[in-house]
Amino acid sequence: MENKRASWSGQLAFVLAAAASAIGLGNLWRFPYLAAQYGGGIFIAIYLFLVVTLGFTLMTTEIAIGRMTKQSQLTAFSQMHTGWSFIGFLGTVIPVLIVPYYCVIGGWVLKYLVAYAKMALTGAELMGDGASASGEFFGAFISAPFAPFGYGILFILACAFVIVLGVKNGIEKSNLVMMPILFIMAIAISIYVTTLPDSLAGIKYYLIPNISSLRGESGAFSIAMLGKTVLGAMGQMFYSLSLAMGIMITYGSYMRQSDSIEKSVRRIEVFDTLIAIVAGLMIIPVVHMFAIKTGTPVKEAMNAGPGLMFITLPKVFAMLGRGGVWLGFAFFLLVTFAAATSAISLYEACVASVCDLLGMKRRNATFFMFFVIAFLAVFSALGYGPWQNVTLSALLAKLGITGEWASKSIFAMQGLDFFDFITNSILMPIVALCTCIFIGWVVKPDVVVEEISREGHAFRARGFYVFMVKWIAPLLIIAILVSEVCRNLGIANWKI
Ligand code: PFF
Repeated sequence: MENKRASWSGQLAFVLAAAASAIGLGNLWRFPYLAAQYGGGIFIAIYLFLVVTLGFTLMTTEIAIGRMTKQSQLTAFSQMHTGWSFIGFLGTVIPVLIVPYYCVIGGWVLKYLVAYAKMALTGAELMGDGASASGEFFGAFISAPFAPFGYGILFILACAFVIVLGVKNGIEKSNLVMMPILFIMAIAISIYVTTLPDSLAGIKYYLIPNISSLRGESGAFSIAMLGKTVLGAMGQMFYSLSLAMGIMITYGSYMRQSDSIEKSVRRIEVFDTLIAIVAGLMIIPVVHMFAIKTGTPVKEAMNAGPGLMFITLPKVFAMLGRGGVWLGFAFFLLVTFAAATSAISLYEACVASVCDLLGMKRRNATFFMFFVIAFLAVFSALGYGPWQNVTLSALLAKLGITGEWASKSIFAMQGLDFFDFITNSILMPIVALCTCIFIGWVVKPDVVVEEISREGHAFRARGFYVFMVKWIAPLLIIAILVSEVCRNLGIANWKI
């Protein structure tokens, strides 16, 4: 490629971009409900431990590969070792499959932002009195024939616009606007929530380790429950740190050699974890209050999956009166920014791969990827409505293949769940495992160590890194892969 590779303007710009990618729906929505479900402080402690060990190892590896090769994921591996180029190809499939459904969820968030803006400005009660009909509002929207796709496309277009502008002028500048607003609002909302009367019980529920969550049905300490908690935290760590999606390789390829990878990784981890913990402080106390007031079991209220953000929270905001509408608006603006900066990084990972492989111009590659993403988004956008029956089971049945197995689990998933499962549960662990084996045993960790130590930067965690990438990281990733496959295919009665 003759074009000079784009670069960040400095270490801070890189850290902000990587943190902007990492901070997303995973922090704001997934982390709080997993923490609530798995024993509060216990989950948080295990999560923190995993971030500074396994998360550190994987993120350092990816950024070093990117900076060393100056390539995105697709071509980085082939440049290091032609026999291992398959990791790049396999890995590139991941963001291509994730961006469409992530943008569809981004579209849902956008819809709520618009709804809250309308409610705040006109006083209309779009979700019924006290948001009593928030479930119907959400259900009607996601099952509508066009709206979810329309909002999803708007979201994709906004990301495409930033990407066309380039690394410095687009991604970096948009982060400079969105990230400070996101930080300030997250902190302001959490302060507001924690000062509400009755919030203390929820804060305790969230932060104090609840040992009973590690007890099995018999009431005794259960290793299986501990295993479940660790695996849950590990899955969340992958998700939250944007690992094994090619993003950190791509963003690392724009990094200057004079900047410290080790220090940057530590800062990204701090930002990402801080926002996850603060998100819990925004959400858990109010949901806890709501559960107590309405007599809903607390665990059930916390455990609502996507419903927590789109159905329960609107009810909680409504409980806070007129101020709640503005709180809802601020909250969904924050979530829109968080989702947008993450979607931009996923989209950029795809665009950079196309540019590096085919030598295409950024503008053309963004345009090309727009069509691919928009096409795939249809499956997720319409999967709760008109295309609810578009599943692998249906396809197999058309081909005359039937059987109990074909109507179960992944075969019966609609678009969004299917893409989420294939990427997060299967492809990401496989790519992360192959990357560790490749670095740990094929090219050897010294290649990464050398990259980290460039220009006189001391690699303080060097010994630890080498041990992790060779031994511990592969073993932990195998554990997560096996448990995810068993859980989703219903094998060995493994329920998490
Ligand atoms: N790390 C981001 C988040 O926590 O939301 C981005 C992301 C994670 C996107 C996982 C997609 C995904 F499957």
